[in-house]
Amino acid sequence: MKGFRFYGFVVALVVLGMIAAACGPTPPPAAPKGKLEIFSWWTAGGEAEGLNALYDVYKKKYPGVEIINATVAGGAGAQAKAVLTTRMLGGDPPDSFQVHAGHELIDTWVVAGKMEPLTSLYKSEGWDKAFPKGVLDIVSYKGDYWSVPVNIHRSNVLWFSKKVFTDNKLEPPKTFDDFFKVADALKAKGIVPLVMGTKDGWEAGHVFEDVLAGTLGAEAYNGLWTGKTAWTDPKVTEALNNFKKMLAYINTDHSALTWDGAGQYLIDGKGGMMIMGDWTNGWFMSKNFTGYGWAPTPGASGIFVALSDSFGLPKGAKNRDNVIAWLKVLGSKEGQDAFNPKKGSIPARVDPDKNLYNDYLKSAMVDWAKDAIVPSPIHGAAASEGWATAYKDAIAVFVAKQDVAATQKALQQACVDAKVCK
Ligand code: GAL
Repeated sequence: MKGFRFYGFVVALVVLGMIAAACGPTPPPAAPKGKLEIFSWWTAGGEAEGLNALYDVYKKKYPGVEIINATVAGGAGAQAKAVLTTRMLGGDPPDSFQVHAGHELIDTWVVAGKMEPLTSLYKSEGWDKAFPKGVLDIVSYKGDYWSVPVNIHRSNVLWFSKKVFTDNKLEPPKTFDDFFKVADALKAKGIVPLVMGTKDGWEAGHVFEDVLAGTLGAEAYNGLWTGKTAWTDPKVTEALNNFKKMLAYINTDHSALTWDGAGQYLIDGKGGMMIMGDWTNGWFMSKNFTGYGWAPTPGASGIFVALSDSFGLPKGAKNRDNVIAWLKVLGSKEGQDAFNPKKGSIPARVDPDKNLYNDYLKSAMVDWAKDAIVPSPIHGAAASEGWATAYKDAIAVFVAKQDVAATQKALQQACVDAKVCK
């Protein structure tokens, strides 16, 4: 009897132990480990600092994950995009890659069935409320969201050397007429009026998109990308003539310089003005240069030529869970406020901590909220990749040959080939 009771007691203890084990605290999920390969072209000053700031946020949260920084240098993805295409089509996608929101994302990768939708992540992270509607629209396709926008960049900024302008009692030009007056004054002083680099083939196309916006105005400019404004329009002739006139004021070594190489002219006080996107603001910061001023490009005040960098989840990503964690960092307020003050862009989210941003970026936030927003073709927002490339190449040829009629014809043809113009 005694033995039986003792046996019963032991059984009860064992059973209780089992219940306790079953109900006790579950062990924490295994900490994320493995790798995360991030593909981008962010190697210039400002770009690299911004990217590293994102990596720092990620590493703090997921110290066990090794980040592979797969960069291919060359502004605007001049070299990176071809490498990416080879990898994507060869079944070797990076875990996540930099891609412009808009046509570049949708036409090139989503329609081709290469990406995973991120709609459930948008829901769980509350991003359908954190990003403005215009931004949500350009990462959407057939009712799903396809990438996470990290920023908004402005294409149409005229940067100028404050010292050069003050020394010569000049004001930043508002119109094309003002621009040419300022350019003449600078030329007379032996200062390069308009600094440009054309080495990577896209930079002139970038300046020209801003000349188009400044010459046509927001509505007619938008029409160029939707088929409502013909490329044969006299206003496009005028824009090409404006650009041709501007080319008479650029540095002779432009074909040897990249966008950032050209920026050095402003730092050195040897150049007066430069038209380039606001990654230039990040670049100046990375050089500890503060002697720059900014204004909308001629004719384009009240117009914000916009683009957005984003990252997505390609099908077949080797480290899918780590990518989801990466995307969560990108879409978070913490991630965006770490990245953008260094990158020289404003956050895509609506709730930045404005104190973290310099005066240029504070002004960009104001303009973003009130200006007419129009898309950039060179940076993937306005046109599909094929059209954007044809546009870019036509303008690169224009820099060399300066044939207005032939270029206008080529631009119209590019629109026809894109099946947007008849
Ligand atoms: C753009 C990109 C920016 C900046 C720039 C110069 O296409 O959106 O983030 O990096 O190229 O490289």
